[in-house]
Amino acid sequence: MPEITITTREGETSSLTVKAGVTLMEALRDGGHDELLALCGGCCSCATCHVYIDPEFAAKLPAMSEDENELLDSTSHRKETSRLSCQIKLTDALNGLRTTIAPED
Ligand code: FES
Repeated sequence: MPEITITTREGETSSLTVKAGVTLMEALRDGGHDELLALCGGCCSCATCHVYIDPEFAAKLPAMSEDENELLDSTSHRKETSRLSCQIKLTDALNGLRTTIAPED
Protein backbone atom coordinates (compact mmCIF):
# COMPACT_ATOMS: atom_id res chain seq x y z
CA MET A 1 0.00 0.00 0.00
CA PRO A 2 1.76 3.13 -1.20
CA GLU A 3 2.04 6.11 1.11
CA ILE A 4 1.91 9.57 -0.42
CA THR A 5 2.65 13.00 1.00
CA ILE A 6 0.49 15.91 -0.09
CA THR A 7 1.09 19.63 0.16
CA THR A 8 -2.10 21.66 -0.20
CA ARG A 9 -2.48 25.07 -1.84
CA GLU A 10 -2.28 26.56 1.65
CA GLY A 11 1.08 24.88 2.18
CA GLU A 12 -0.13 22.26 4.68
CA THR A 13 1.49 18.85 4.40
CA SER A 14 -0.07 15.51 5.30
CA SER A 15 0.27 11.85 4.38
CA LEU A 16 -2.15 9.22 3.14
CA THR A 17 -1.82 5.48 2.76
CA VAL A 18 -3.75 4.35 -0.28
CA LYS A 19 -4.78 1.14 -2.00
CA ALA A 20 -2.48 0.27 -4.89
CA GLY A 21 -4.26 0.66 -8.21
CA VAL A 22 -6.22 3.83 -7.50
CA THR A 23 -5.25 7.02 -9.29
CA LEU A 24 -3.58 9.88 -7.49
CA MET A 25 -6.69 11.98 -8.19
CA GLU A 26 -8.92 9.36 -6.53
CA ALA A 27 -6.57 9.10 -3.58
CA LEU A 28 -6.58 12.88 -3.08
CA ARG A 29 -10.37 13.14 -3.38
CA ASP A 30 -10.96 10.16 -1.08
CA GLY A 31 -8.49 11.72 1.34
CA GLY A 32 -10.67 14.83 1.60
CA HIS A 33 -8.68 17.15 -0.65
CA ASP A 34 -11.74 18.76 -2.19
CA GLU A 35 -9.76 21.71 -3.55
CA LEU A 36 -8.77 19.30 -6.30
CA LEU A 37 -11.95 19.67 -8.36
CA ALA A 38 -11.35 16.81 -10.84
CA LEU A 39 -14.43 17.97 -12.71
CA CYS A 40 -14.31 15.43 -15.54
CA GLY A 41 -14.01 12.52 -13.12
CA GLY A 42 -10.73 11.29 -14.55
CA CYS A 43 -11.49 11.35 -18.28
CA CYS A 44 -8.45 13.52 -19.05
CA SER A 45 -10.54 16.41 -20.32
CA CYS A 46 -10.58 19.15 -17.67
CA ALA A 47 -7.12 19.72 -16.11
CA THR A 48 -8.68 20.57 -12.73
CA CYS A 49 -6.73 17.70 -11.17
CA HIS A 50 -3.39 19.42 -11.87
CA VAL A 51 -0.59 18.61 -9.41
CA TYR A 52 3.17 18.94 -9.19
CA ILE A 53 5.17 15.77 -8.57
CA ASP A 54 8.47 15.72 -6.73
CA PRO A 55 11.15 15.41 -9.49
CA GLU A 56 12.66 12.46 -7.62
CA PHE A 57 9.69 10.38 -8.80
CA ALA A 58 9.58 11.63 -12.39
CA ALA A 59 11.23 8.52 -13.83
CA LYS A 60 8.75 6.22 -12.07
CA LEU A 61 5.64 7.93 -13.44
CA PRO A 62 3.67 6.60 -16.39
CA ALA A 63 4.48 8.38 -19.66
CA MET A 64 2.42 11.45 -20.45
CA SER A 65 -0.15 11.08 -23.22
CA GLU A 66 -0.62 13.72 -25.91
CA ASP A 67 -4.03 14.62 -24.43
CA GLU A 68 -2.53 15.17 -20.98
CA ASN A 69 0.26 17.27 -22.46
CA GLU A 70 -2.20 19.47 -24.38
CA LEU A 71 -4.46 19.93 -21.35
CA LEU A 72 -1.50 20.93 -19.20
CA ASP A 73 -0.57 23.47 -21.86
CA SER A 74 -4.00 25.04 -21.37
CA THR A 75 -3.34 25.73 -17.67
CA SER A 76 -1.70 28.92 -16.44
CA HIS A 77 0.47 27.24 -13.84
CA ARG A 78 2.27 24.55 -15.80
CA LYS A 79 5.76 23.67 -14.58
CA GLU A 80 8.24 21.00 -15.54
CA THR A 81 6.88 18.80 -12.75
CA SER A 82 3.20 19.21 -13.73
CA ARG A 83 0.96 16.18 -14.19
CA LEU A 84 -2.73 15.46 -14.20
CA SER A 85 -3.31 13.37 -11.10
CA CYS A 86 -6.07 11.31 -12.75
CA GLN A 87 -3.46 9.92 -15.15
CA ILE A 88 -1.19 8.55 -12.43
CA LYS A 89 -2.02 5.11 -11.11
CA LEU A 90 -0.49 4.57 -7.69
CA THR A 91 1.58 1.42 -7.42
CA ASP A 92 3.98 0.19 -4.76
CA ALA A 93 6.80 1.57 -6.94
CA LEU A 94 5.44 5.04 -6.16
CA ASN A 95 5.56 4.54 -2.39
CA GLY A 96 6.71 7.77 -0.76
CA LEU A 97 5.49 9.96 -3.65
CA ARG A 98 5.36 13.64 -2.77
CA THR A 99 2.90 15.86 -4.57
CA THR A 100 1.68 19.45 -4.36
CA ILE A 101 -1.75 20.54 -5.51
CA ALA A 102 -1.29 23.17 -8.23
CA PRO A 103 -3.01 26.57 -7.96
CA GLU A 104 -6.49 26.84 -9.43
CA ASP A 105 -6.67 28.39 -12.92
S1 FES B 1 -9.96 14.84 -13.53
FE1 FES B 1 -10.25 15.92 -15.39
S2 FES B 1 -8.32 15.76 -16.34
FE2 FES B 1 -8.04 14.76 -14.48
